Amino acid sequence: MLNRRAALSAIATSAVLALTLSACGQDSEGGSAEESGSAKGGTIGISMPTKSSERWIADGKNVVADLEAKGYKTSLVYGEDDPENQVSQIENLITKGVKAIIVAAIDNKSLNGVLQQAKDANIPVIAYDRLILGTANVDYYASFDNTKVGELQANYIVEKLGLKEGKGPFNIELFAGSNDDNNTKYFFGGAMSVLKPYIDSKKLVVQSGQTGLTQVTTLRWDGATAQKRMDDILTKSYSKKKVDAVLSPYDGISIGILSALKSDGYGTKAKPLPVLTGQDAELASVKSIIAGQQTQTVYKDTRELAKVAGSMVDAVLNGKKPETNDTKTYDNGSKVIPAFLLKPVSVDKSNYKQVLVDGGYYTEGDLK
Ligand code: GAL
Repeated sequence: MLNRRAALSAIATSAVLALTLSACGQDSEGGSAEESGSAKGGTIGISMPTKSSERWIADGKNVVADLEAKGYKTSLVYGEDDPENQVSQIENLITKGVKAIIVAAIDNKSLNGVLQQAKDANIPVIAYDRLILGTANVDYYASFDNTKVGELQANYIVEKLGLKEGKGPFNIELFAGSNDDNNTKYFFGGAMSVLKPYIDSKKLVVQSGQTGLTQVTTLRWDGATAQKRMDDILTKSYSKKKVDAVLSPYDGISIGILSALKSDGYGTKAKPLPVLTGQDAELASVKSIIAGQQTQTVYKDTRELAKVAGSMVDAVLNGKKPETNDTKTYDNGSKVIPAFLLKPVSVDKSNYKQVLVDGGYYTEGDLK
């Protein structure tokens, strides 16, 4: 964990520096947007959840770049995983007079009040990656096929263990994301639709007995929280047994689980590491995959997601209908939010070069 923290903080520091530098040029109060002649559509507010994870830093950067290329100015804020902070940051964006808001919610239910303020000020809202629940004041949703993410993770486990060939029984443990993130139930639901038949037929055994979503969530996707839960599970349920697979919904959680496994002596010939999934293709995890530790991740190209969100904003502000490809799945309790869902891709040691390096997401040098 320490190493990862240090690495992350180095990445975060340089990224924050880059963001700070670029934000100065892009913020409506910075002035230089006019110098570059890009004041076309006013300022767009972008509210991201946290800088503690690489992916959201990349998301922020990519959304800013996309909107700038479309001629907008931007104001990008990070809520540091504190829902109240996010509310006041969005209030500030509204006060500042932004033309539209793109928001990746920290807590899916805490934004209703502030989104009413946005509505009253006639500011369209795009939910970014995570759906906001219980309010009609969300115009569009840009995300990935979240059910598919869970299916990819679970199918990977099925394939690696040879369950379809009748192998087993194997021991598995299950982890899910934050209970206040709407994506969590889609990821877990997708994964369980694949795993449950094997659990029912006892080809997969969850020795901890923790199989319900409420038993396996990880508040704020925190790696240290997951590490502690894995430590406890290994102590209580695996003193004489070996875990063969761990369903992890996100790379930060996978790295925490990996630390617990290593502390328990996994990673040798006699006690090999289990199949361990993930999501986001974060640098630390891709390196771990190359080193043969974490096994898989689900890659979601944040450059593409940024483009979708930017195009939605641009369309709405120009009186056009944004392109959507799903108008059924994402009912937020108030209405079905029209969505554009991108395709997630399973990545492991066998295809990371082709997908991540050839695809320009990382350079070979990044992965050293
Ligand atoms: C989810 C997102 C995942 C992962 C996770 C933790 O909402 O869809 O890709 O990033 O948050 O940040």
